[in-house]
Amino acid sequence: MSMAELRPVTLITGASAGIGAALAQVFAAHGHETVLVARREQLLNGLADAIAASGAPRPTVLRADVARIDAARRIGDALIANGLEPEIVINNAGFGLVGAATRLDRGEQLAMIDLNIRALTDLSLAFAESLQRHQGGILGRRRQRAAGREGIPALQPQLGVLGPGEPALAQ
Ligand SMILES: NC(=O)c1ccc[n+]([C@@H]2O[C@H](COP(=O)([O-])OP(=O)(O)OC[C@H]3O[C@@H](n4cnc5c(N)ncnc54)[C@H](OP(=O)(O)O)[C@@H]3O)[C@@H](O)[C@H]2O)c1
Repeated sequence: MSMAELRPVTLITGASAGIGAALAQVFAAHGHETVLVARREQLLNGLADAIAASGAPRPTVLRADVARIDAARRIGDALIANGLEPEIVINNAGFGLVGAATRLDRGEQLAMIDLNIRALTDLSLAFAESLQRHQGGILGRRRQRAAGREGIPALQPQLGVLGPGEPALAQ
């Protein structure tokens, strides 16, 4: 299948609950075909049914652990197999730990960094060309934007990985 035949979609990670599920409904209501990604497939299917019932195209559901090292490749392969490619990526999957670093579990802290920073950067880079082709963009979480300001690189598809002081919200 050639690139021209792939349908542009909004890919939303962490769409099974909370902000991601709400964003999926908003994007679908505004005419975007969506792809819902998370680990809890049953919740994704329930949301896809609700979106379809509202009259929007039924979202494609992809069960995936975004923290897996091969997640971007697996998601990319699944999209192509469904004749889709991202126009917009919403990097929403993530979690936060609250408490003193000395008291929190070290492994959990590293897992948080891995999911909230490495995995979303990997997904963003994996689809940067497709986003550029469709003049789409990446929507990041507030913490991601703050990370850009505080010295952790953030990413825009047209500009590559950015340093401090640059916004991580791309249009
Ligand atoms: N709520 C806030 O006030 C707030 C403030 C700042 C930033 N944020 C950030 O905004 C995002 C959404 O927040 P929320 O309150 O809506 O969180 P939430 O209700 O806990 O939902 C998190 C979503 O991320 C998914 N997820 C977590 N780990 C994943 C993984 N390894 N692979 C795939 N999906 C994964 C979960 O799905 P599964 O469990 O089904 O995989 C779920 O859909 C999070 O990244 C959070 O850190 C939230």
